[in-house]
Formats: sequence, structure tokens, C-alpha cells
Amino acid sequence: MELLDGKKLAQDIKSELRQAVDALLAAGKRAPHLAAVLVGDDPASQVYVRNKVQSCEQVGFRSSLIRLPADTPEAELLELVDQLNFDATVDGFIVQLPLPRHINEERITLAIAPEKDVDGFHPVNFGRMAQGLPTYLPATPYGIVEMIKRYELPTQGREVVVVGRSNIVGTPMAILFSRKGYPGDATVTVCHSRTADLAFHTRRADIIVAAVGIPELIKADMVKEGVVVIDVGINRIADPSREKGFRLVGDVDFEGVSQKAAFITPVPGGVGQMTVVSLLMNTLKAAQGEIYPKA
Ligand code: GUN
Repeated sequence: MELLDGKKLAQDIKSELRQAVDALLAAGKRAPHLAAVLVGDDPASQVYVRNKVQSCEQVGFRSSLIRLPADTPEAELLELVDQLNFDATVDGFIVQLPLPRHINEERITLAIAPEKDVDGFHPVNFGRMAQGLPTYLPATPYGIVEMIKRYELPTQGREVVVVGRSNIVGTPMAILFSRKGYPGDATVTVCHSRTADLAFHTRRADIIVAAVGIPELIKADMVKEGVVVIDVGINRIADPSREKGFRLVGDVDFEGVSQKAAFITPVPGGVGQMTVVSLLMNTLKAAQGEIYPKA
């Protein structure tokens, strides 16, 4: 079994990004600029956003964190989004989800200019992905694609089972694996909460992507020898032996499944590490006008 080491890959990518920033500066251009909007004080969101801002600093990007109170009216957030859409000094921005209940997430996502949507959540960018056009891939799928490429894992003709059908992970992964060319050309099965016999499908899989948010759902007896396992889950389970009272586990029973897997991502230190650098890669593309040429 070989670990798919997200931590190591993320470090490699960060140093590549630093070099790209140096090249921009040497050419007389400014550093890429990511803005992040955080509404309210959801503790997990605060951690994620802080991580994104710190990662910008590490690679020499400019970052702006805009914090708004939890009771910010939707109209005010829409106004801020519009301001960022037109701010020529901002290359890309994200509005951290989830938003407070009185704000319609779909309306906010639609208001973000696709050119600046480095989360890749806008239906225009999603549609471009589905059609195989240049686009900002959502951070987690982008991270998984990079991981597969950098480990040179073959996908052509492979049986891929994606467990989960969310808009930000399961559905995009199913699309990406079935597209023409590497890392696509796979035969994809999407499993979800209404799947009659999950193990029947996972046992046939050459590659499993687990993205359902159910702690340790995938057990050793549900996979075949030599499987490649990409575990997207980040679940807290109670653990009195830990100082914080919990530990993080994936959607895969790592201890059991790693005995049979050829490659497997650890949790933490796997896919999660790749997501933030993916956002940075998208921000670099935005700064360079790679997807949508700058006017
Ligand atoms: N909440 C959880 N993941 C994400 C993400 O990738 N982007 C945003 N904007 N919010 C999130």
C-alpha cells in the first residue's frame, strides 16, 4: 500500500505557485489577489477561511478577508459581490458557505461573475466543466485530479465508483472521470443514499471516491485487493483520549481498507490538503486570464 500524500503534494504545489508569483513580479505585474467573504461566525468556516488567507501569504498572493455580521441582509451581500465583480484589483473571490439561513446561497452564487468564481460554483463554470471547456474546477475535484495526475494513476477503462452526488464533489468527479482523455476515460458508477447495494458496486471498483460524510462507511470487506481509494470525508468522531475530545476520520475505514488498497489517501493529510492549493491555482489562472482572457 502506498499513501497518496496530500501534504507533500500541497507543499510541492505551493512552491510552484511561489515561483509563478516571482515570475509575474519579475515581469512587472502584480501578485494575484484573492478575496474571501465570511458572513457570521460559524467556527468551521472561520478555520477554513483563515487557512485560505494564510496559504495566500505563504505563496506571495495578496488576500483580503471581508467579514460581515451574521445578520447582514442579503441585499447588502449582493452589493458587496457586485463591488468585487467590478474591482479590477481583485482577481478572484469566494463567499464562504454555508451562509446564514436568511440568505439564499443560490442567488449569491449566481451573482458572482464567472470570471472571478475561483470556487467554480457558478453554473456557467460547472457547465463548462461538463462540456470539457477550460474552467475553474471546484477546489476538491481539482485537488483530486491533481493528485491522480501527479501519482500517474491510470484511469482509462477503469471502473470508478463515486460514493456521493453533491454538487461540489460527487457529481463533478463523476463528470471528470467520464470525460475524454486523462484523467478521464473511466467507466463511472455513482452511488448515493438510495443505492440498493453499495458493497456490490464498491467491490467491483478499481478506484473509489468516497464523498458522503458518513464516518468510516467503506469497510475492508467492501473493496477488492489493489483498489485506489480517494477519501474525501472529514468527520469528527468522539475520542476521549484526545485533548479536544474528538478525532477526524474519513468516509473510509482506513485501518481495514488500507490492508487491501494499492493507494489510499489518509485523513487528515490527504484530499483536504489539496483543496486549498487548488483554490490558489484557480486564483493564479484568474490573475493570468487563463480561463477568461482579461479585457
Ligand atoms: N464551504 C465548504 N467548502 C467550501 C468551499 O470550497 N468554498 C466555499 N466558498 N465555501 C465552502
